[in-house]
Amino acid sequence: MFFNCFRVLDKCKRNDRLGQKEAEEICTDNVRVFSYNSLRSATDDFHPSTRIGGGGFGVVYKGVLRDGTQVAVKSLSAESKQGTREFLTEINLISNIHHPNLVNLIGCCIEGNNRILVYEYLENNSLASVLLGSMSKYVPLDWSTRAAICVGTASGLAFLHEEVEPQMVHRDIKASNILLDRNFCPKIGDFGLAKLFPDNVTHISTRVAGTVGYLAPEYALLGQLTKKADVYSFGILVLEVISGGSSSRAAFTDELLVLVEWVWKLREEGRLLECVDPYLTKFPEAEVIRFIKVALFCTQAAAQKRPNMKQVVEMLSRKEIKLNESALTEPGVYRGVNKGGNHRGLGLRGSSSQESSSTQGYKGKSPAVNQGSSSASVISFQSISEVAPR
Ligand SMILES: Nc1ncnc2c1ncn2[C@@H]1O[C@H](COP(=O)(O)OP(=O)(O)OP(=O)(O)O)[C@@H](O)[C@H]1O
Ligand SMILES: [Mg+2]
Repeated sequence: MFFNCFRVLDKCKRNDRLGQKEAEEICTDNVRVFSYNSLRSATDDFHPSTRIGGGGFGVVYKGVLRDGTQVAVKSLSAESKQGTREFLTEINLISNIHHPNLVNLIGCCIEGNNRILVYEYLENNSLASVLLGSMSKYVPLDWSTRAAICVGTASGLAFLHEEVEPQMVHRDIKASNILLDRNFCPKIGDFGLAKLFPDNVTHISTRVAGTVGYLAPEYALLGQLTKKADVYSFGILVLEVISGGSSSRAAFTDELLVLVEWVWKLREEGRLLECVDPYLTKFPEAEVIRFIKVALFCTQAAAQKRPNMKQVVEMLSRKEIKLNESALTEPGVYRGVNKGGNHRGLGLRGSSSQESSSTQGYKGKSPAVNQGSSSASVISFQSISEVAPR
């Protein structure tokens, strides 16, 4: 612990001239501080062959530490103007969060302009590459694995929403942020990351625009960021896991519906099981239907009608739960921004009267992002489900 704190302290002094007391308050024994050189040697000097991916926040390399531990080394793009002190505070917060379905942050490196995060390495890459990526990386996942991925992800998200202090909205739940360990157990990555870039992340940044298929309409259009925006993205993710189709492509039927619109249409036509991945040949129909319906509850246009993540965990895990479909309303869809910058609006029949009135109230101003706040509305579990007697 002392070793780590002194090293952080040393760097803090050099970078930000923090007072000793302040730095000690920031540091804990959870944060391991790596020198740039040690990460250089772990990644073979950040050699392209060790690169395993890259996204809006930076490039990810596979590294091997001197003790043989495999790590994912995420070199952040140096655009954040956040000071070392704020950065360390956030790192500290993230590294204190431990749950079997959340990726562990092992440590960081702050030297000069370099800001690098070191995570535990997950052998099976991301759900995006395994399920939605190129055929060369495709891994056939059976139903029980897919169901476990949904339930595990829901548990991790429920933990972030309800157990972590302060509670956290992920903001970017999507298949590439669900990492899979050697047993295909899911772990949510990149939580807390948006807070490392406070000057660079708006609710509709170009980074986010790349993952339009997951955006809750009220977040995309109005900047209303609550836990219910994560619930929406989770619902989309479940539909991807079941269908094997990506929500980022509007490619379903001749009408070019997005995934959730297509599933809703199938439900209306009584053909729900047609959305199931053709590669999934054997599956328990009733359970799959329950999962699809839970996903539809999560993606309802009106945020306050969506269940919270604890309820979702229950709805997915308890076979005896009967969902009250009469309470289910249409999904909301945000279709992205035209080249000219205009929103293409909410899709299909998803906009509730409440949403249209708040949209009128928007008047083109940049809405304040209500980060980390919990949804004000509470929905009773009883209204969306009935539990059959055991
Ligand atoms: N801990 C990890 N273990 C193994 N692979 C990882 C790990 N973290 C990230 N990756 C790989 O690196 C890829 C890129 O991750 P990264 O988070 O940089 O981008 P992204 O998730 O596609 O986009 P975003 O920046 O919006 O999160 C992931 O899709 C995954 O394949
Ligand atoms: Mg990511």
